[in-house]
Amino acid sequence: MKIVSAEFVKSAFEEEHWPRDAMPEVAFLGRSNVGKSSLINSLLGVRGLARTSSTPGRTQSLNFFLINNRFRFVDLPGYGYARVPRIIKDSWGEMATNYLAKRPQLVLSIQIVDSRHEPTTLDVQLNEWLAAHAKPRVVVATKSDKLSNNELRKSLERVKRALAAERVIVYSATTGKGREQVWRAIEEAMA
Ligand code: GTP
Ligand code: MG
Repeated sequence: MKIVSAEFVKSAFEEEHWPRDAMPEVAFLGRSNVGKSSLINSLLGVRGLARTSSTPGRTQSLNFFLINNRFRFVDLPGYGYARVPRIIKDSWGEMATNYLAKRPQLVLSIQIVDSRHEPTTLDVQLNEWLAAHAKPRVVVATKSDKLSNNELRKSLERVKRALAAERVIVYSATTGKGREQVWRAIEEAMA
């Protein structure tokens, strides 16, 4: 994908603030601090478009980005900060699953996990929710630059098993590894 333009559109806390046109959207989902915003910046080759931080919970609202005047990326808040490990019922669940369930524009959910860690209960619940609602999904294991090849291989098996994923794209926002594969998945979803 050639990126001709990428711009921040808006931050929405309420449903009535979601963009109203029919452009396709790709959502980025994962627990707090997993690297969702970094993945967006790295895919677009723009530093700092989506705000990143080492403090978990940086992204609080739905953030919409317009790419090539043709489709949007949606940066969702991270989950895993609520005490109750029930993804649908906490405040994350309300905002995010409301968006995921109601949005006809949504063509792909990118479910992001940390290569270094076992998927959490919430990651598993999100996967189950997406599957139950027949939402197209691709799993991306990011921060792969922090692991050796051997560790990475083990981690991938674990992620595949926990999230019932046939395929997991290994990513690093630091090195750009996996970028082409994620773009291909996005292009296929939009075709
Ligand atoms: P919230 O919006 O708070 O949920 O976080 P997020 O999922 O958007 O994570 P963010 O992109 O802000 O990244 C969190 C931290 O992880 C930052 O310090 C990033 O620099 C770091 N990080 C993200 N991706 C990578 C990666 O691929 N490799 C390395 N080494 N660090 C990364
Ligand atoms: Mg973020």
